[in-house]
Order: sequence, then C-alpha cells, then structure tokens
Amino acid sequence: MGRVEGKTAVVTGAANGLGAADARILAREGARVVLTDVDTAAGEALAREIGPAARFVAQDVRDEAGWAALMADVHATEGRLDILVNNAGVVRPATPEDITEADLRFILDVSINGTIWGCKHGIALMRQGGGGSIINMASITAIQGHPRSAAYTAAKGAVDAYTRAVAVHCAQLKLGIRCNVLLPDRIDTPMVRAMAAATATMNPALADNGPGKPENSQGSVEDVANLVLFLASDESRFISGQSFVIDNTASITKGLVPA
Ligand SMILES: NC(=O)c1ccc[n+]([C@@H]2O[C@H](COP(=O)([O-])OP(=O)(O)OC[C@H]3O[C@@H](n4cnc5c(N)ncnc54)[C@H](O)[C@@H]3O)[C@@H](O)[C@H]2O)c1
Repeated sequence: MGRVEGKTAVVTGAANGLGAADARILAREGARVVLTDVDTAAGEALAREIGPAARFVAQDVRDEAGWAALMADVHATEGRLDILVNNAGVVRPATPEDITEADLRFILDVSINGTIWGCKHGIALMRQGGGGSIINMASITAIQGHPRSAAYTAAKGAVDAYTRAVAVHCAQLKLGIRCNVLLPDRIDTPMVRAMAAATATMNPALADNGPGKPENSQGSVEDVANLVLFLASDESRFISGQSFVIDNTASITKGLVPA
C-alpha cells in the first residue's frame, strides 16, 4: 500500500526539476497524478514515462480561468482532488537597483498569482471531497538575503506568508484542508543552473564558487520530493501553516557546510 494510495494529485510546473520529482514519487506511492506545465513536450513525455497513473494537462498558472478549467477537468476525470503542489516558478536575475517592471510583473504573476489561484480553485474542489493537502513552493530566498534575485525573493516571501493565511482559513472553517510551504536552497535543476550562469555573468566577482555551485549541491530533487510526499500523505494530518527549510543548515551557519 503506497503512502498516498488512492489520492489524486495536481503538480504544477511538473515537466522539469523539482515538480517532475514530485510527480514521480507521488505516482510511485499510489496517487493518480495530473502534471501541468507550460512546457508541453517535456510534460507529456514525463507523463508517458510515469505510465497510467499520470496524465499531462497544459496550463499556465497565471491564468485564473485556466485554473477553473483544470479543476473542472480533474473533477470530471478523477472525481476528486486530494493533493495540490503549487510548484511552478520562474526567476530572472536582477538586483534591487536594476530590476525591471516587465521581469517584476512576470515573476510575481507566476509565483504569487499562480499560487493564489491554485489555492482558491484547489480548495473549492478539495472541499467536495472532504479535505486535502496543499503544498506551496517558496524558497530559502523568502527568509535570506539574495540580492541578485530581487523580484524572486519578494515573490517567495509572499508565497510563504500567503500559506499561513490559507492554512488558518481552512482550519477555522474545519475544511480538513492543510497548507504548508517548502523553502529549499539550491537543488540542482534547470532553473538553478540558469540562475548560477546568469549571476556569474552579472558580476564574476560575486559568482558562486565551489560547494555553492548547483552541480555541487548536496541536495537532490528527491530530498524535496520526499517532504512533499510526507506533507501530501495523511502522516502529516496535524501539520498545517508551516514553512520547511530544506538546506542542511546552509541558511543558519556562518560558513559553508562541508561537502
Ligand atoms: N531548485 C531549487 O533549488 C529551488 C530552490 C528554491 C525554490 N525553488 C522553487 O521550486 C520550484 C521548481 O523549481 P525548479 O528548480 O524545479 O525549476 P525549473 O525551472 O527546473 O522548473 C520549473 C517548471 O515550472 C514551469 N513553469 C514556468 N512558468 C510556468 C507557468 N506560468 N505555468 C506553469 N508552469 C510554469 C517550467 O516550464 C518548469 O517546468 C519553483 O517554484 C522554484 O522557484 C527551487
């Protein structure tokens, strides 16, 4: 018996990186998983690889009408929603002094609006099934100074804060819906590699080095997915409104954590 046997999950941004690992592990543990992404080719390929437990639906999380359509589709096809992983996110490098309006609006739209619409429409469908678990994806940048991803830090801080509002709302109304948020640091994914390269170009003197490079990260996508699995499962039934840092102490030490 899998740890999320019989549950239905939606994972956004599931075509690559952390979302792909979440989709894989939830399916392995018995859930039916709906993968969504703007990257249709990679999303469809992954759903095929996972097999009959998975299907892909193209979705841009910025679009509220798209969220309503997705939930109607999940209701019609799977009949219920138990797990929602609001994983989709984007980053574009910029300091607080060179941030542009276009990048700011784009990043906030994907991370904040995408998460807010996901929670709104996810709760509506979860209510019908008597409960569920929402897992939002913030970042260590929500609580740590990361000056070269300025808009991203603002977006992730908002996602972290919004999680508590959703969790308390659901608890006060006794909806049986929990909402938690993850704050990972530098797991090797396409996003983190692109960001590291861009940062090095912006200012070579500030480029990350040695153990700080994404390819030298000690964390894996599975380390994040295992926590997603726990929070998605009934094992975490009394945990809601919490922020989980995943960084093996990197954010609380004065020096680098030895490799
Ligand atoms: N990798 C890390 O170390 C790390 C650390 C902290 C937070 N995060 C967060 O975890 C999440 C996943 O990150 P990742 O590293 O796997 O990134 P990634 O770029 O590898 O994957 C992100 C996925 O989101 C999709 N996406 C982008 N915009 C979208 C939109 N508008 N609608 C739907 N899908 C969209 C992309 O196509 C991609 O498949 C993001 O929210 C990111 O901010 C990652």
